[in-house]
Amino acid sequence: MIPAAVLRMCGRPPSVEQRRPPVPGVGEVPITVTAAPITPLDVLCATGTSYFGPPATPYVPGVQGVGHRDDGTPVWFATSAGMRPGDGSMTAAVSVPFVDVVPLPPDAPLPLIAALGLSAVAAHAALTRTGGLTEGEVVVVLGAGGVVGQAAVQLALLGGASRVIAVSRSAAGRDRAVALGAEAAVPLLPDDDPVTLADRLRAVSGLVDLVIDPLFGVPAAAALKVLRPGGRLVNLGSSAAATAPVDSATIRGGSLKILGYTNNGLSVGERADSLGVVATHATEGRLTVSHEVVPFGDVSTAWSRQAAGDAGGRIVLTL
Ligand SMILES: NC(=O)c1ccc[n+]([C@@H]2O[C@H](COP(=O)([O-])OP(=O)(O)OC[C@H]3O[C@@H](n4cnc5c(N)ncnc54)[C@H](OP(=O)(O)O)[C@@H]3O)[C@@H](O)[C@H]2O)c1
Repeated sequence: MIPAAVLRMCGRPPSVEQRRPPVPGVGEVPITVTAAPITPLDVLCATGTSYFGPPATPYVPGVQGVGHRDDGTPVWFATSAGMRPGDGSMTAAVSVPFVDVVPLPPDAPLPLIAALGLSAVAAHAALTRTGGLTEGEVVVVLGAGGVVGQAAVQLALLGGASRVIAVSRSAAGRDRAVALGAEAAVPLLPDDDPVTLADRLRAVSGLVDLVIDPLFGVPAAAALKVLRPGGRLVNLGSSAAATAPVDSATIRGGSLKILGYTNNGLSVGERADSLGVVATHATEGRLTVSHEVVPFGDVSTAWSRQAAGDAGGRIVLTL
């Protein structure tokens, strides 16, 4: 028997139970799991209110993890737990279709790569595939204190951005963004409207080529106002609001491009390519993110803290 975090009822945290180890099916790779992050997608799916619908319970959550193949190769892997029937990464051993397994460098920092995971993949692909970042461009990163945001700040600079301006609600998020290379960090205030935030942002950023937006809502509407003519905003989340007070004159007057990005639109090859870039940068010390390593046995309290936004960055469970 092996330990697994089992979620028996939507809206409740998972708890550790003993389960039979998985038997690999045709085309599946057995993996000994060493770490699994608790991501916003895991928490959302487990509420039963995601657009995937309520998951069949009981199930083991975890849409991604890291571990080793039987030959010792370190790997990152993805699952569709919570989105489709089946178990995920929060257990000691998994069997995963080979297309969902990506080999990592031999000395890869596994907990860090678990923390970066699909959030960093989204930041990388939103910058490069959807946003089309080119050398010398000015980038604004919203929600810069989150995992997508922290990764986007660093990956934009690694991708040739001349300047990155961060926007974050918290002083800690702003300090972190500057430590990671942002030229400046602008506060997002509770009573901001698109005009007040745009004015404060423009005073620091000037005209901007590309906005990376995991927030939508007022921050996205404000960021559109600082784009240069023909500038792009890539939306990849709605952490601030599901809708945004965007005005036609701003979009039309600037011939702006508002683009949507989802990891679900990547082919497995594209996802592996972005994960490979992320893993290489992390292994070679150019990419990091705030994260908290927690023993697997503490999954219930860790899950509740992550869901409540009461964690020191992305929580990574280690086995
Ligand atoms: N499209 C995709 O494929 C994809 C992939 C991964 C993630 N996402 C989405 O991207 C978003 C961010 O993911 P993440 O991994 O970075 O999550 P995260 O680490 O939890 O960070 C979320 C950040 O959003 C900001 N935020 C949260 N609530 C807010 C609010 N009410 N108003 C303003 N800002 C708020 C905060 O940034 P500050 O601390 O800077 O204020 C927070 O740190 C989520 O919505 C997630 O679902 C999308």
